[in-house]
Amino acid sequence: MLTQTKAWQDLSKHWRDVSGLHMRDLFAAEPDRFERFSLSVENILFDFSKNRITDETLKLLFDLARETGVEEKRERMFAGEAINFTEGRSVLHVALRNFSDRPMPVAGKDVMPQVRRVLQQMKRFCAQVHSGDWLGYSGLPVRDVVNIGIGGSDLGPLMVTEALKPYGQKGLRVHFVSNVDASHLTETLKDLNPETTLFLIASKTFSTQETLTNAHSARDWLLGAAGDERAVAKHFVALSSHVERVRRFGIDPQNMFEFWDWVGGRYSLWSAIGLSIALYVGMDQFEELLAGAHIVDEHFRQEPLESNIPVIMGLLGIWYANFFGAKSHAVLPYDQYLHRFPAYLQQGDMESNGKRVRSNGQPVQWSTGPVVWGEPGTNGQHAFYQLIHQGTHLVPADFLAAVVGPHPLGRHHAILLSNFFAQPEALMKGRTEQEARQEMQNADLDANEIERLLPHRQFPGNRPSNSFLYRKLTPRTLGSLIALYEHKIFVQGAIWDINSFDQWGVELGKQLAGTILQELEEEGAANGHDASTNGLINYYKKSSGR
Ligand code: F6P
Repeated sequence: MLTQTKAWQDLSKHWRDVSGLHMRDLFAAEPDRFERFSLSVENILFDFSKNRITDETLKLLFDLARETGVEEKRERMFAGEAINFTEGRSVLHVALRNFSDRPMPVAGKDVMPQVRRVLQQMKRFCAQVHSGDWLGYSGLPVRDVVNIGIGGSDLGPLMVTEALKPYGQKGLRVHFVSNVDASHLTETLKDLNPETTLFLIASKTFSTQETLTNAHSARDWLLGAAGDERAVAKHFVALSSHVERVRRFGIDPQNMFEFWDWVGGRYSLWSAIGLSIALYVGMDQFEELLAGAHIVDEHFRQEPLESNIPVIMGLLGIWYANFFGAKSHAVLPYDQYLHRFPAYLQQGDMESNGKRVRSNGQPVQWSTGPVVWGEPGTNGQHAFYQLIHQGTHLVPADFLAAVVGPHPLGRHHAILLSNFFAQPEALMKGRTEQEARQEMQNADLDANEIERLLPHRQFPGNRPSNSFLYRKLTPRTLGSLIALYEHKIFVQGAIWDINSFDQWGVELGKQLAGTILQELEEEGAANGHDASTNGLINYYKKSSGR
């Protein structure tokens, strides 16, 4: 058991020795700290020197990774073993971006031929849409692409198309509809022309209520204009692993882009689920995205733990979650194009590692995945950074920024980066009593006032962060960044001994909603729930005249 491993016990003792150390003092004593505690991969510099670690901390964390079998588990993933042990599935999103000649087997069969086949199909389709050869029911080319999906069938493509806006094809817009709230679809469709709109129905299972409801309403919208069922074939394609359900919906399987059950929903943007990305930025750039991820896959697979960036990211998270008791992790991109990156990682991390049961079915006796959250800097600075600086919670944070901004507009990028550098520094250093006093003396405050304000104006610092500084937010770099986080999540799940690849927790709510939907649509009061749920349902029914 994790807490009984030698490394864990050693880390617990070590924590008692080092948790009182201040990073200010560590930096003062170790001028080479940046060189020792930074690494790079594919144009991304990863600086982890502003963490509450010493060489000994890292050594013990690497021991923990070894003792908990991270390397063996990593091998098992790349070998296509069914490491998703509650669903009996392989976890092989790495095959979707495997640019090596290595076969990737699932149940003894290489999946690379099918991966390449779908990539070719996507390529042909993109070429047809971009050249204007793919025509709608009235003979007009596609101008708007609407991806209808939710969770992993939405967040990845949405985040990536936002991040890669500078690479967007002229004359083609992408939209994303995920929420079953009719406002989402209505607002999206209100300015679109059915004759030039292409719907991508993105659903691995093709049974997700929100997606199918939106897809049916979108089809009604199209048919309302076209008046002929045959229009569906020209305006609807499916991205799914379930051909029968796609056929039942009325989409010709020829217009289906397949992926497989060894691709988890939250790891699926590299698959056919990425068709909206490929349409938006072009297939070449989509392949660049895959190539960037592949570089990190190779790094993760081959680098020794000591220089393995996702391993270190994962271990640092463990250090804070399990020894310092940190409950959350902030992701703070100083890059407006990455504005959906924290939301994307929320699903990636929280749906993967929000688990409470070990592989042997026993409850864990340690914290697992943290709450992941964040917003782009500098906006977050004027909203929630106060808590990170002076609140009672320890919030380890990742800062991300590009060396080269996409828009050379005046001093904007220098100002953005000055904040990107300043915030981790401030979090690390804090402001001592002496510094706070000096500042107020310089401002000529009266002595009593200085003493009164002193406790409020000093802050402890010693708040950890990682900084990711990449050259430019290209498709390749973005692919690498995403893959770093994917593998970080893997490392943590491996150490916590949980299944990072199922999501049973979201099922109960879905089942209950099914029962309640029926009650909402039939006559009479609901009485089969607890008093609160009955009360709310019946209040709604009365208020809406049902
Ligand atoms: O409800 C959770 C979930 O299963 C996610 O894991 C998944 O990404 C999402 O729903 C959408 O599922 P699908 O692609 O099958 O519609």
